[in-house]
Amino acid sequence: MDNNKVWLITGAGRGMGVDIAKAALKAGHKVVATGRNTESVAKAIGKAENLLVVKLDVTSEVDSEAAVNAAVKKFDRIDVLINNAANFYAGFFEELTMDQIEKQLQTSLIGPMIVTRAVLPVMRRQKSGHIISISSSAGLTSFDFCSAYSASKFGLEGWMQALQKEVAPFGIYSIIVNPGFFRTELLTEQSTNYADKPIEDYNEQRAQQMQFWKAANGQQSGDPAKLAQALIKVANEDQPPLRFIAGADAVSTAEQVVSTLQQQINTYRELSSSLNYNKA
Ligand SMILES: NC(=O)c1ccc[n+]([C@@H]2O[C@H](COP(=O)([O-])OP(=O)(O)OC[C@H]3O[C@@H](n4cnc5c(N)ncnc54)[C@H](OP(=O)(O)O)[C@@H]3O)[C@@H](O)[C@H]2O)c1
Repeated sequence: MDNNKVWLITGAGRGMGVDIAKAALKAGHKVVATGRNTESVAKAIGKAENLLVVKLDVTSEVDSEAAVNAAVKKFDRIDVLINNAANFYAGFFEELTMDQIEKQLQTSLIGPMIVTRAVLPVMRRQKSGHIISISSSAGLTSFDFCSAYSASKFGLEGWMQALQKEVAPFGIYSIIVNPGFFRTELLTEQSTNYADKPIEDYNEQRAQQMQFWKAANGQQSGDPAKLAQALIKVANEDQPPLRFIAGADAVSTAEQVVSTLQQQINTYRELSSSLNYNKA
């Protein structure tokens, strides 16, 4: 991939999306930076020649179609879609309301699907493209207090893995990115919503979790500007990877997941493998 591609980025008004947009512009690409509030997107990224700022709430099919049309009208094509926008509904499963769970899934699972559906016809016509979806360590394994978020990221992973195979014949690459902790605004009040349905039995555990998540805000080890640079490199590979693990903490989580799964396979290997019909 040369450095003159068109990148469409969701959630580019705050957090990682801003760094990705800036890094893509700096590398010489054209950028369609999208967000719910176009003023904040424009302000966060600053002026640039090859920049188009477009309104896009990822939960809206109307916005998605309009954003794709605006991108094609301005730059003729879309080469890289970054499904980045998300939020975090934090809390124990029982303490999250169904409304909160639905909102989580709507933003971080259905949203990327809506935007990708709008972009895919353009990429199929071009016979090329990259779809890069930002998952999480919480898309590789789950953590308590993260059930809704993890469910959305596991869903994203399952959907993306099928999509990878479905669109490869059209020259479209898809990449799942699993970041560990990065210092963005995800753990601020603007992006994190805590569970709304307190249950006394969880009081003590909830207090510990809230303390952990609030203290983690601003202390995350990962630098989103470096992650943005890494994505430019990965998207530029002749054979882009199906998955990119981002951050030393995420590498260690991924290694733990592999080792746990291997142990689970080994523990019941014989029983697991003995479930076919007997040969007649
Ligand atoms: N930071 C981390 O440690 C970390 C770790 C693992 C994975 N991730 C993933 O990385 C991605 C980026 O998160 P971040 O850390 O940069 O979080 P962030 O700083 O909170 O930024 C989230 C962005 O998503 C946007 N957004 C939220 N709902 C939206 C919607 N319905 N439509 C369009 N935009 C919407 C926000 O825009 P508004 O200003 O309109 O709210 C904001 O620009 C997410 O997918 C997140 O799950 C982050």
